[in-house]
Amino acid sequence: MKKACSATDPLWYKDAIIYELHVRAFADSNGDGIGDFQGLISKLDYLQDLGVTCLWLLPFFPSPLRDDGYDISDYCAVNPSYGTIDDFKQFLDAAHQRNMQVMIELVINHSSDQHPWFQRARLAPPGSPERNMYVWSDTDKLYEGVRIIFTDTEKSNWTWDPVANQYYWHRFFSHQPDLNFDNPAVMEEVLNAMRFWMDMGVDGLRLDAIPYLVERDGTSCENVPETHVLIKHIRSVMDAEYENRLILAEANMWPADVRPYFGDGDECQMAFHFPLMPRIYMALRQEDRLPITDIMAQTPDIPPTCQWGIFLRNHDELTLEMVTDDERDYMNLAYAADTRMRINVGIRRRLAPLMDNNRRRIELLNSLLLSMPGTPIMYYGDEIGMGDNIYLGDRNGVRTPMQWNSDRNAGFSRADPARLYFPVVMDPTYGYQSINVEAQQSDASSLLQWTRNMLALRKLFQVFGRGTLEFLAPDNRKILAYIRDYQSEDGTHSETVLCAANLSRFAQPVSLDLAKFAGRQPVEMLGYVPFPAVTDQPYPLTLAPYSFLWLELQPIVSNVVEPTEQQMEVPEP
Ligand code: NOJ
Ligand code: CA
Repeated sequence: MKKACSATDPLWYKDAIIYELHVRAFADSNGDGIGDFQGLISKLDYLQDLGVTCLWLLPFFPSPLRDDGYDISDYCAVNPSYGTIDDFKQFLDAAHQRNMQVMIELVINHSSDQHPWFQRARLAPPGSPERNMYVWSDTDKLYEGVRIIFTDTEKSNWTWDPVANQYYWHRFFSHQPDLNFDNPAVMEEVLNAMRFWMDMGVDGLRLDAIPYLVERDGTSCENVPETHVLIKHIRSVMDAEYENRLILAEANMWPADVRPYFGDGDECQMAFHFPLMPRIYMALRQEDRLPITDIMAQTPDIPPTCQWGIFLRNHDELTLEMVTDDERDYMNLAYAADTRMRINVGIRRRLAPLMDNNRRRIELLNSLLLSMPGTPIMYYGDEIGMGDNIYLGDRNGVRTPMQWNSDRNAGFSRADPARLYFPVVMDPTYGYQSINVEAQQSDASSLLQWTRNMLALRKLFQVFGRGTLEFLAPDNRKILAYIRDYQSEDGTHSETVLCAANLSRFAQPVSLDLAKFAGRQPVEMLGYVPFPAVTDQPYPLTLAPYSFLWLELQPIVSNVVEPTEQQMEVPEP
């Protein structure tokens, strides 16, 4: 018997709206300055009301927290700062009751050096099963030429361990030794951890740093065939024992290199689209759609059960690994003039500051997030336009406490402000006195309310999560225009949407070739406003600066839409 989970549709992730959050940053229930599961439970109504359908929790396991919890010292427990296993179960049930799925992290490329496996490995004799939980070498010349990921902190992927008298391999921080997947005991432990959380009812797992599982000499040690064998194995065990669960690949790679992580639909159901993300920012700054259309043209088709995960920002730096050197220079100049805003190969800022707090630009980027193919993944705080703190180390500037209201500590915690795990943002523009949930809840035109409306609208349609994408090619390259189309398998239901976005700071005219939709009735989706019918002639539109339009192309012109009550109340000019 397979174990069921909260989702009944095996493809639930295609219609999901994912919200990424850190328990530590969300809400502190016991006043110790650290967010916890009870705090998160108290905010589930907020998340349900916002309209997100799946919560992705950053690592909440015991950890020395030298990499914000991605340095795990026990895979099958909850960090006591955040609560107990019972608190986690209570959270999981409470989320499920609200029809929200829960995705957690399976960080299997590496552990913390404080993990008992590593402590035992150092002391165990070379060649023993205990030692072989990790990757050791007598020389740091093995796997020469493999790139370094954390370029700001690490000089080598090898670190000498004086206890073991050998070097150990690590693709990230030197306190994060890579697990050795050539040792079958490692896979056993991975499956134990997976079962531990899936037995409780966790719906999905994000597979962290998945390209780096296996090392092979003479290669880049990335995406090697053996790694795919391992992921297929994880998937097959998951499918054999559990129903409707999801694995999401974190593979920061070019589209062609990510494609194999979907396998033939037998590896990860989802993978992040890393290269698209920086190109959305480039297109905006260049006022030219080319970076977006170009990367999508390079994006291969994926198996029908698979899905891209798209995002604007997350808990890491805005990574610039998947762009050319010129593009990277451009992005740094455009979005991170102050070098403090840069880290490793990326930019450590939040969405609102990247957009210079320009509401129209923030909305425009979100409109792309919500209408490009894939499942949108939002980062906590971006729904209210939270700012960042570039004076904090590492990527912590984008990991500050959620801003709930204008009370002490932004309503995040009752602790002495000095005790908070990180200070709340306090500058005059983004500080909690101006940017907070409570204020935006009572402001009908706030970013929060806008986001809520957009999520509600998106959920009325399946086309965004499941439909095809076709770009239009109007002469005016400042306009990004595309058709999303969805036909249900049984042929009874069809949805066609025209999305048009003005990437320019000035108003723009555009003329679209919609001849193949001649006879259709476009209806603006936010206001349910009918637009002129489509003919075989070019279809003209005018777009205000940074504005976007979603027009549903309804089948028959004679089916003229009825105005809504609200629209009828609008007085004649
Ligand atoms: C990917 C995570 O997103 C990042 O935060 C972390 O630092 C690295 N994996 C290494 O664990
Ligand atoms: Ca707490």
